[in-house]
Amino acid sequence: MQNRRNFLKASLATSVGVVAATVLPASAAEDSKENIFAYTKEHQGRWEGKAGSHAPIITIEGNKVTLETKHGMSDAHYIVKHSLRDGDGNVLGEQVFFPQDKKAISTYVIEGNYKELYAMSFCNIHDLWVTKFSK
Ligand SMILES: [Fe+2]
Repeated sequence: MQNRRNFLKASLATSVGVVAATVLPASAAEDSKENIFAYTKEHQGRWEGKAGSHAPIITIEGNKVTLETKHGMSDAHYIVKHSLRDGDGNVLGEQVFFPQDKKAISTYVIEGNYKELYAMSFCNIHDLWVTKFSK
């Protein structure tokens, strides 16, 4: 009987947690580290302290956009990919890296101006990192 009560209490607590997570306003959800699918300088989540070596750095020269992730490259730990997307999620450019590459750096020619661009860098250990910018 005690086990059944504990099970019911646990189920109720889980349900309340799920509902609370679902109905949180957007600003609260953005502040919650539990709702991070991609890490940023502002929301480093479980990888706190890793932004400097994982969040892509953007350099813009005219129509040339360069993404750089200041991360080491070795067989065990490296940057797998860069992706550049617009505010609608359209892929404007991508580059795959290999452990043998010396640096995780990629360049794209982007015509026009964009209010929102997203530079994405994926580490094989420390997940996906995003830097938002405009051009
Ligand atoms: Fe990493």
